[in-house]
Amino acid sequence: MAGLGVNVDHVATVRQARGTDEPDPVWGAVEAELGGADCITFHLREDRRHINDRDARLLHETVAVKLNMEMAIADEIVDIAIGLCPRQCTLVPEERQELTTEGGLDVVRHQDRISRAVARLHRAGIVVSAFIEPLADQLQASADSGFQAVELWTGAYADAKSPERRDEALAELKSAIELGHRIGLEVHGGHGLTYRNIGPVASLPGFCEFNIGHSIVSRAIFVGLREAVREMKRLITLHAPAG
Ligand code: PXP
Repeated sequence: MAGLGVNVDHVATVRQARGTDEPDPVWGAVEAELGGADCITFHLREDRRHINDRDARLLHETVAVKLNMEMAIADEIVDIAIGLCPRQCTLVPEERQELTTEGGLDVVRHQDRISRAVARLHRAGIVVSAFIEPLADQLQASADSGFQAVELWTGAYADAKSPERRDEALAELKSAIELGHRIGLEVHGGHGLTYRNIGPVASLPGFCEFNIGHSIVSRAIFVGLREAVREMKRLITLHAPAG
């Protein structure tokens, strides 16, 4: 069954809205773990919009489950990741104006630069994953660049405006998972996944990890983060493919 990675960036976003020290994403990570999270994910952005260097350091010191650092391929951030040495780094595109990560990394276009960053992270013993759209050329380029894993962008599925488009997006994800496994990649999924739409994605065989942020932190406002994580885990378990 796929594990649940809880993205704690949004806890830091609320803190930054007032420029104080609460709520603390490090405390958020503890609550998420107590709710059953299999992985804690954070994104140390170049602009430090939410998670900052202190958070990254303390998360690394305190998180007991898998720690997944989302990051751009900027040299400064790669240096920090190598110093920190989280279990996994997920390389994502980063734009200054975006509300959240929009779409996947273009591994085909930036293969040389990306391969160099992947090689440096590997040498530090870090598992490296590429956040990509579920497209055959991006999967193949990810394998060729040395990634051990990919996180498939589930945004097309989450944003689908019709049942037909949603089914198409699910079929694309299914083919991408199958290709990923054929070429030796571990396959994760994330972006826009919610309590309402997780079912059909969690039913697809072959996903190893889901990374979910906004929906869980939104629900936490009403039920608390521990319970919000518990509920999402329950849904993933309920819909997990047999076997
Ligand atoms: N995976 C990646 C690579 C992301 O960049 C994000 C957004 O930070 C997520 C998953 C989580 O997306 P959401 O907040 O929509 O659940």
